[in-house]
Amino acid sequence: MLITDALLGEHAVFYLFLGHIEQALPALDSLSSIQHRFAAFAFALEAHAGLEDELLFNALEPHLGVQGGPLAVMRFEHNQIVDLFRKIESAADLDSARDFARQLFPIVRRHFQKEEQVLFQMAARFLSEDELSTLGAHCAKRRTPLVGLDLP
Ligand SMILES: [Fe+2]
Ligand SMILES: [Fe+2]
Repeated sequence: MLITDALLGEHAVFYLFLGHIEQALPALDSLSSIQHRFAAFAFALEAHAGLEDELLFNALEPHLGVQGGPLAVMRFEHNQIVDLFRKIESAADLDSARDFARQLFPIVRRHFQKEEQVLFQMAARFLSEDELSTLGAHCAKRRTPLVGLDLP
């Protein structure tokens, strides 16, 4: 599988989780219930961003450069997202956790859309199908301990 298809498939699941958490948010009436809602989502999204950065962004660096280009923007947004997860985890009260959550939703959606509409298209242009599928295999291998697949 091409790494871009694997990452797109993960985005599809994250969109579902985002919608689910967003809908539940107004009814969550304690700080710990909000923090609890975000814990698994944050863990999975950070793993997604980490793999994306390590495998796809690193492979695109020779073509797109590191400073000031789309990779710098994507990495900045990954940091912004992780920073908001940390703020939700350590929020002092319910209202501030809710505010951080409301800031997070559009940032994640816009980030995904930029990857889907711009970055993954660049990957298809600058990397060969072979490279994309080798990266896809690395991606699946790195997931093995987490999802229990038994890959060769
Ligand atoms: Fe990303
Ligand atoms: Fe992504």
